[in-house]
Order: sequence, then C-alpha cells, then structure tokens
Amino acid sequence: MSIEEKQLGPINKVCVVGLGYIGLPTAAFIADSGISVVGVDINERHVEKINNGEMPFFEPGFEALLKSVVADGHLKADTEVAEADAFIVAVPTPFNDDYSVNMSYIEAAAKNIAPVLRPGALVVLESTSPPGTTEKMAEILLAERPDLSTDPESANRLLVAHCPERVLPGKIMEEMAANDRVIGGLNPLSTDRAKQLYSSFCNGEMLLTNATTAEMAKLTENSFRDVNIAFANELSIISDKLGIDVWELIELANHHPRVNILNPGPGVGGHCIAVDPWFIVSSAQEEAKLIRTAREVNDGKPAYVIAKITEAVEAEGADSIAALGIAFKPDIDDLRESPALSIVQQMAEKWPEKNILVAEPNVNELPESLTAYQNVQLVDASHAISSSPVVAVLVDHTPFKSLEKSVLEGKNVVDTRGMWS
Ligand SMILES: NC(=O)c1ccc[n+]([C@@H]2O[C@H](COP(=O)([O-])OP(=O)(O)OC[C@H]3O[C@@H](n4cnc5c(N)ncnc54)[C@H](O)[C@@H]3O)[C@@H](O)[C@H]2O)c1
Repeated sequence: MSIEEKQLGPINKVCVVGLGYIGLPTAAFIADSGISVVGVDINERHVEKINNGEMPFFEPGFEALLKSVVADGHLKADTEVAEADAFIVAVPTPFNDDYSVNMSYIEAAAKNIAPVLRPGALVVLESTSPPGTTEKMAEILLAERPDLSTDPESANRLLVAHCPERVLPGKIMEEMAANDRVIGGLNPLSTDRAKQLYSSFCNGEMLLTNATTAEMAKLTENSFRDVNIAFANELSIISDKLGIDVWELIELANHHPRVNILNPGPGVGGHCIAVDPWFIVSSAQEEAKLIRTAREVNDGKPAYVIAKITEAVEAEGADSIAALGIAFKPDIDDLRESPALSIVQQMAEKWPEKNILVAEPNVNELPESLTAYQNVQLVDASHAISSSPVVAVLVDHTPFKSLEKSVLEGKNVVDTRGMWS
C-alpha cells in the first residue's frame, strides 16, 4: 500500500500550527522548498510581525530566510487555520503538577484543524509528547470529524503521524535541514506520507517507525543526557564527601577507552532535558526508577550548591557574593528552568542584607525574578570577583574562562563547573 497506489498526489499546501522556536523555522524551510505554507498562531502580534518579515525571537541567520519566504508569498501567517494537504502541530507541551502532559494546547490546535480537514489529509504532531499522545490527538480529530477514519483503506482516511523535533536553538539554520528525522505514523501509509512531507526540506536520513516509538525516541534522547548528567552530579557530591577533586577523577576515568563521563554542574536546566524525562516517568510510574531518580538527583543539586555557598559565606563572614552566570548552559542567554538562576534567587532571598553581584555577559538586564530583589546587581565579572570574598561559579561562559586565575587569589570559590580545575 503506497502513496502512489492510494493516489495521494503531491503535497502542495501545508498549514503549520504554532509559530514558536520550532514551528516558525519549520514553516519557513517548507516554504523555501516551494510549497505554499500558512503558519497559524493565536498570538496576533506574532502573526503581524511574521507577515512583515520580522523575527518574533532571535535565531542566528534565520531573518534572511523569513524575509525571503514572506516576500515571495510562500509563507503567510494567520490566526485562523486554512485547508491544506498536510498540517504540522508545533504547540507547547508543558507538564502538569503531577508531571503528566498538559494536553490543552494540542487539544485546542486539533479542534481548530478538524473542521478544515479533507479526506487524505495528513496531520503531524511535532510537539514533544509522551507515548500515546499522537493517538490521543487523532481521537480528538475524529471526535470532531466522525466522517473521517484513521483506517488507511477508507476513502475518508485521515493520516496521522509523529515527527519529533531535535534542533538546537542557536543552530536551527544548520540543523533544520541536516538532522536525521524519526517519523512514526499510526499506520505505514501515514508514515510514508509524513516522510514525503519532510523529504521536501530535510536532507538527513528519514528513520521510519510507529508513532509511539517516535514519541519515546525523543524522550529517550533527553533522558539519556539527564541520567548521564545525574551520574556526574552524584559523583561530584560523593567526591566532596571523600575529599577528592571530581574533575581530576572524571578526567582519569575517561582515559578508559569505553568510559565517557559528562561534566557535573549546578543542576540541569532548559525546557527539554529538565522536562522530557518526566513524560517517561508519568507514562511508566513503577518502571521508570532510574529516570525518576536521575531527575531527583539533578533537581536536588541546586540545594546542595546553596549549602556549599552557605559554608563559604559563613567561613568568610562575607557580606558580598559574586555569582558567575545565570543562564541554563554556557554561552547562551536562555534562562528557562536555569538552576543557576534559581540558586541566585535563593541567595537573594536567604541573605537580604548581603550584596549578590551577578555577572552574566549574555544579558543586558536582570530578569524580573531577580529585579524583585534590592540586593541583586548585574555587574561585570571582574567587578563581582574583586568586590566579594566568596565566588560562586554557576555557568562556564567563555568570557569567564579568559579571566586570569590570579583574580581568585584569596577568594573562597565554589566552582560548580570545574572552570579553574
Ligand atoms: N524550542 C526547542 O528547542 C524545542 C526543541 C525540540 C522540541 N521542542 C518542542 O516543540 C514544541 C513547541 O516548542 P517551541 O519551543 O516552539 O514553543 P514556543 O512557545 O516557542 O511556541 C509555541 C507557539 O504556539 C503558539 N500556540 C499555542 N497554542 C496554540 C494554538 N492552539 N494554535 C496556534 N498556536 C498556538 C504560541 O502562541 C507560540 O507562539 C514543544 O512541544 C517543545 O517541547 C522544542
């Protein structure tokens, strides 16, 4: 049963629902391949900006592509969905208090798409989702459109697939076309149709599977990172207890030809690695023991770092603390779920009478969560260090690495990133 046999024809028009970090570049790349694309977002300002060829967020190199596909008419943004041969859903998938997925965005998107679906249409879920979500999205679509069926043999067939996105923000221009894609349909015809869509703009390998495995593949990639970082974080705590330098320890162990331990840090942040493993845990509560523990180890690390900073502050009788970095990883300005930011916030709360001097070379102003505190200031790294007896290294940004080690002489340094080890 092939696309040709089913006479599904070419994909001439695509509707992308959700024009954020993922949906907008995807829409632009498809439009650049010559396909007519309608991008849909509930945010009117966003839609207006895109139609003016303006970037709603920063992504290096993307502006020229956006301007070009808007100018040549291949990409139009709208607040309303339009009829199309294929739909891509790229809306947020945050978690609920119990770590289950918050389905409300997918549900709203599916309910919007349902009225414009024609028989033979393809709907691809790109949002990171727990196993079974693509099937749930199909159920929502079919509840709205009982005339359609996910049976590939039906003349009124609806094709549904999952294709998780794995681009790295900051490198989207390189990775959107080059990355391999995992594509899993509810049936092989859906998988093949989705492959046809992604082949229009992806040069990477198309890895075909079923929807549940595709959903799990994305979660597995991020859980793999989380578990391995948790191992490094646990080693750092054990090493402190045993009086061992964890950086030297890891370097030695990594000389083994089949060992590659990651770096410990102040915790795990960002909106992927710190979030996605919970979707596995909520899908298999009893079974996902290691994945849950890894999350707990990584989530517990900021409290451990605070305890170490407290020891240093008490030992020095410090009235000022330098905090180097608040981003969730080196050399970016992204503060989402950042453990470094959470540590600085806890310090500000704990010591209202002390100065917390934050150095973060990638932002021009402090986020609201810190401006709420009178005792926190954004300064440059040299000023922060020279004014404070205690230095907390929270992110190993490149500019910090070029500081002379001598500036730390006589300082009590809590180095969570091994920057000067
Ligand atoms: N950003 C990443 O690095 C990344 C990487 C891989 C996967 N993902 C996943 O991709 C999905 C989208 O992430 P993102 O970073 O693009 O999110 P985002 O918040 O940047 O964008 C989501 C967009 O969807 C819009 N939206 C919400 N509900 C809508 C609706 N009912 N109809 C139309 N538009 C709607 C929002 O206004 C927003 O513009 C998430 O599941 C995320 O986990 C993100």
